[in-house]
Amino acid sequence: MPATELRRRAAPPARHDVAAVRRDFPILGTMTGGKPLVYLDSAATAQKPQAVIDAVTRFYETGNANIHRGVYRLSEAATAVYEAVRRQIATLINAAAPREIIFTRGTTESINLVAQSYARPRLAAGDEIVLTAMEHHSNIVPWQLAAAATGARIRVAPVTDVGELDLGAFARLLGERTRLVAVAHTSNALGTINPVREIVGLAHERGIPVLVDAAQALPHGTVDVRALGCDFLAFSSHKMFGPTGVGVLYGREALLDAMPPWQGGGDMIAAVTFEQSTWAELPAKFEAGTPNIAGVVGLGAAVDYLGTLDRTAVAAHEAELLACATERVAAVGGVRIVGTAAHKAPVLSFVMEGVHPHDIATILDADGVCVRAGHHCAQPLMQRLGVAATARASFALYSDRSDVDALVASLGRVRTVLGR
Ligand code: ALA
Repeated sequence: MPATELRRRAAPPARHDVAAVRRDFPILGTMTGGKPLVYLDSAATAQKPQAVIDAVTRFYETGNANIHRGVYRLSEAATAVYEAVRRQIATLINAAAPREIIFTRGTTESINLVAQSYARPRLAAGDEIVLTAMEHHSNIVPWQLAAAATGARIRVAPVTDVGELDLGAFARLLGERTRLVAVAHTSNALGTINPVREIVGLAHERGIPVLVDAAQALPHGTVDVRALGCDFLAFSSHKMFGPTGVGVLYGREALLDAMPPWQGGGDMIAAVTFEQSTWAELPAKFEAGTPNIAGVVGLGAAVDYLGTLDRTAVAAHEAELLACATERVAAVGGVRIVGTAAHKAPVLSFVMEGVHPHDIATILDADGVCVRAGHHCAQPLMQRLGVAATARASFALYSDRSDVDALVASLGRVRTVLGR
């Protein structure tokens, strides 16, 4: 037997040390309404490790200056840190170059940038943009705005009853007039993980570019833009343990280069006169005004933090937790799980017979359990699945069995509290 094979067999699979990780997140040791916090809304925003909090504080305490403008050392140091994070993100998602990384306010702004700067100038009446029925509003409304301005139309690939994309129907929607596909990597409302590589393959066979909304993907694993083959990819810092107010747009350089700026202001120009202005090179062309420098610094710290963890072990932990939570929540009287795709991120949407999801969330909150209830910014998906709203528990790398215990115990009280 070769030595490498022996080593492979001998090495025990890495376990995710969730107890140690929980100690890194100070908020998890706090109380809410007199009860220990049970945070099950990580799909809305993830909590922040001390390392991220410290990096942002340290930046404001000792490193704060504007970037790309000062010739003094403090400003040059701030610029260096900001640009180092850009390189770090390029490495994280395997972009071909840091200039393919644009810092934005978040996934929503990243998608709007592509809708306004890439799609809108190219769309004509009768052209089509293909989405899926499971998109977040942030991957629907920007395309509607571009379509309304150009006479283009939105086509929607259906999802099945369990919340999976109907890939055959998706392929049949791609046609002569399709100018772009925009698709969620992972559904925020159901957790469904889409077959992005196949989606990109089908679109590229027909010469159609693809934007991937990866907001719910980065918190749970690695994303490789070149392996996926996508043309644009959007995500947010705050869902991957970094600060709010920062996001990323990845775009293939040739596409970004050909796109006009979508916001004008300082830092995005080469020269300005009252007659005309010329644009800076990538990535500055798309970063008008002073960006969220401290937020970018915090995002860098979040990526560093993720780098200290075994992401395969984290994914295994999250999968185990999802399986356990699914089984136990489904066993609570009157509960039905909404979204049972074969490949899921740790997101558990459910309804309870005769109880509005907002009532569920309010009663859980009294026990310190935070879940989201409502349409999850995915109203068309709710309509497709025949529900007005769901309650949603979403887990992250710091979630553990005690969170599931608290969720199940609190759900058990819901009917009693409501007298049903
Ligand atoms: N998109 C976030 C969520 O799913 C806000 O809750």
